[in-house]
Amino acid sequence: MTHAAITGWGKCLPPAVLSNADLATFLPTDDEWITTRTGMKERRISHVPGIELAVVAAERALACAGVNGEAVDLVIYGSCSNDELVPNSASGVQARIGATRAAAFDVNTACTSFMYGLSIGNSMIRSGVVRNALVIGVELISQYMDWNNRNVAVLFGDGAAAVYLSATDREEGVLAEKLQCYADSRQILRVRGMGTMYANLGVPYGQTHWDFDGQEIFRRAVQGMSDASLDVLSRTSVSIEDVALVVPHQANLRIIEAVAKRTGAPMERVFLTVQKYGNMSSATAPVALVEAVETGRVAAGSLILMPAFGGGLTLSSHLIRWGERTTPLAVSDAELPPCSRTALEIVNGIRAQKTVGETEAERFLTLEFAEQGGRSG
Ligand SMILES: CC(C)(COP(=O)(O)OP(=O)(O)OC[C@H]1O[C@@H](n2cnc3c(N)ncnc32)[C@H](O)[C@@H]1OP(=O)(O)O)[C@@H](O)C(=O)NCCC(=O)NCCS
Repeated sequence: MTHAAITGWGKCLPPAVLSNADLATFLPTDDEWITTRTGMKERRISHVPGIELAVVAAERALACAGVNGEAVDLVIYGSCSNDELVPNSASGVQARIGATRAAAFDVNTACTSFMYGLSIGNSMIRSGVVRNALVIGVELISQYMDWNNRNVAVLFGDGAAAVYLSATDREEGVLAEKLQCYADSRQILRVRGMGTMYANLGVPYGQTHWDFDGQEIFRRAVQGMSDASLDVLSRTSVSIEDVALVVPHQANLRIIEAVAKRTGAPMERVFLTVQKYGNMSSATAPVALVEAVETGRVAAGSLILMPAFGGGLTLSSHLIRWGERTTPLAVSDAELPPCSRTALEIVNGIRAQKTVGETEAERFLTLEFAEQGGRSG
């Protein structure tokens, strides 16, 4: 039977670091609140478009696998913050890496976009449609953050990571997964202002307002990530003791601790990046996976569990068997262009562009949504 082994991996974090103290210069917040409530100390802010982050991560993953763009059959771009909608973003990466033979498409399930993309790439390899796939998780949330809202502005950061999947007869890669969506709660995490609907409602392009019920998302994230993980483990008859490393989506340290407790995973076997990168939405889980491998936390042939959660509210959990190789075959020289601004300068630039009067900002809250699950604020 064909499987899809992870034979290449790479990440790209923009260099500019936004600290909790930086956030406190323009928001009523402080390091103590953010650290104790979320576990976050700092996050990255990108000085380049999302595709640039994705290309560097992709080049590193390809070099790691010992292939070049010509070999790639499929590019999947997991994101909810695309640079533009037409053409799609996957084709932007495809063109830059020289994957002339490849198919390319975008996947958006918010924070779980990479994980859903991994399932699609895995399935298309296993069913014989393609022989390999480059799966990317990338996010440029800084551009559409509502920087006036401390409930959300402290939680997110930018970044990208990619894995290269190759067909193999060995039982490697995704062994089983659970995908689900709590669509009845889709309205509790909504970015108002992104999408064609808003132009018809008279909202100036680029203005955003986040609907965000943090406590309810917290509760459902713990439930969803735990239940999905227990489902995958029971279906594969794998016990949590057999899982060498849990690499979860990182929205909040306390969510991760609660999921670890409910699934019986000791925190020593949970890989954390939340303190230094925050929540990079769809880039979070793949960045953590790549960093776990790069820092020697992934043993050859070991089992990895990856629970994730995001807007939608989508949720997932993947059980993965790592292959025999934990070191790259080659190292790419791909790099981002240098960044001359601090993260705070970049953020203040975005804030200046988005300044709107109180009346305009309040207009968001009067918008009526036609679809089920909408609300008028
Ligand atoms: C958002 C989250 C960190 C809030 O933590 P919490 O312990 O639930 O905190 P609460 O919501 O009870 O807020 C407590 C108080 O802190 C305030 N507060 C919120 N953000 C703050 C900030 N950045 N700095 C200081 N105070 C803040 C709130 O206004 C509230 O004040 P009030 O009691 O006067 O109204 C937490 O609920 C969470 O992580 N939720 C899920 C994250 C998520 O949705 N991620 C994206 C999807 S994956």
